[in-house]
Amino acid sequence: MDLILHGEPNERQREFFLSRARHTAYGGARGGGKSWAMRRKFVLLALRYPNLNLLLLRRTLPELRENHIVPLQRELYGTADYNGTERVFRFPNGSRIKLGYCDSAQDVYQYQGQEYAVVGMEEATHFTEEQMRFLTTCNRTTRKDFSPRMYYTCNPGNVGHAWVKRLFIDRQYNASENPADYLFIPARIYDNAALMNADPGYVRQLMALPEDLRRAHLEGDWDVHAGQYFREFSREKHVIQPFEIPKSWRRFRSMDWGYNDPCCVLWHAVDGEGRVFTYRELYVRYMRADLVAGEVKKLSEGESIAYTVASPDMWQKRGALLASSGGFEGETLAELFMSAGLALTPADNSRISGWNRIREYLAMKPDGFGGEKPMWQCFENCTNLIRQLPMLEFDRLNREDAADGNDHAPEALRYGLMSRPHGSREPVIVKKRAYDPLSLPETGASWYSS
Ligand SMILES: Nc1ncnc2c1ncn2[C@@H]1O[C@H](COP(=O)(O)OP(=O)(O)OP(=O)(O)O)[C@@H](O)[C@H]1O
Ligand SMILES: [Mg+2]
Repeated sequence: MDLILHGEPNERQREFFLSRARHTAYGGARGGGKSWAMRRKFVLLALRYPNLNLLLLRRTLPELRENHIVPLQRELYGTADYNGTERVFRFPNGSRIKLGYCDSAQDVYQYQGQEYAVVGMEEATHFTEEQMRFLTTCNRTTRKDFSPRMYYTCNPGNVGHAWVKRLFIDRQYNASENPADYLFIPARIYDNAALMNADPGYVRQLMALPEDLRRAHLEGDWDVHAGQYFREFSREKHVIQPFEIPKSWRRFRSMDWGYNDPCCVLWHAVDGEGRVFTYRELYVRYMRADLVAGEVKKLSEGESIAYTVASPDMWQKRGALLASSGGFEGETLAELFMSAGLALTPADNSRISGWNRIREYLAMKPDGFGGEKPMWQCFENCTNLIRQLPMLEFDRLNREDAADGNDHAPEALRYGLMSRPHGSREPVIVKKRAYDPLSLPETGASWYSS
């Protein structure tokens, strides 16, 4: 077996070998042993199932040659024959591993009409979503003893970052995708004893990278990528487990209205030091204004909410279209909400100052005990906000602004934080004591409550 494997798989590689999911991704940190596992899995499948047709891809030919053709030629010497013109390894049992690449957008079409029971995408984030979708159409078989599968290896970053993150990290699916089909196995350099022993300096090289690259390549953090607007955002620092919010904390809401686009409502609470905690989100689409208002009120039952800031254009939008969404012709959206019992205040919509306000709140500030904490954190149940905040990108034309896109939750956050004082000021540390979110403030009156 060792002759075939050329090594012993580590725990994560074993999981990769055992996965029978329709789509299995092995990704994260550099050097975890992902490419090794992909090559070995392909050879094991080719040997186990006679006449199996496998396709292994990298984005460019030089990468393919370096990463797979050369090592496989060495490893399969005497086991399979290699045809360099076709770039195919043929096994005595009839199985074949085809090695391919998709350099230009059109290159995928060379696989049109072909059938591969197994498709492997090495460095999947180097492929576009369209290329991935097309390749999925070639992943099929008529045989009964094998279900078609796709395997992916990947590091954070590059053109395919968003689709890999959506399918395997955020697990957000559309109607045609079955969540049970997608399995993600996280890779860590520390799992790869072979490399750690042979080259201990490699970890030091990764540690010496600039922070965002280090987070992506050493820690396998999917929340950092090139062009990212909020590099300050980190799940570790900004996303927390829900806790019971003390009654004395001031609460408020913010809303980015949308009907055809999603509508996002966020609930926030402010502690005695001026730190903001976003504790709930409502994220809906095609929902009438009066129904959104009803849902917001229902979710807020038993809570005392000081105010709700909302998209300022809700005071302009009126007309027949609105009549169909629960009100009379001519009523503005703000009036519709008011009629449904939810009073709104127009939010400050200065985009760049608003994004800067978020940046200030993301920054770490002294916690009064020699440590640091950000001025804003959100509960882990605010999944759309957590997904969209790190995905925001710089606008290509106005480098200070964020590009328009899937930003409904960040917009709601921007409105919310613009209703608060600057986050750059030092927190109001009332009393030096261990921070315990479950404890109630000792003297309500001295707590910050603007
Ligand atoms: N189980 C193993 N046994 C022996 N050697 C291994 C094993 N796993 C990985 N290696 C070796 O460790 C090194 C790094 O592995 P590999 O290239 O597969 O990592 P990777 O996760 O693909 O890295 P990158 O993110 O840079 O693409 C390679 O030299 C590989 O041959
Ligand atoms: Mg690799």
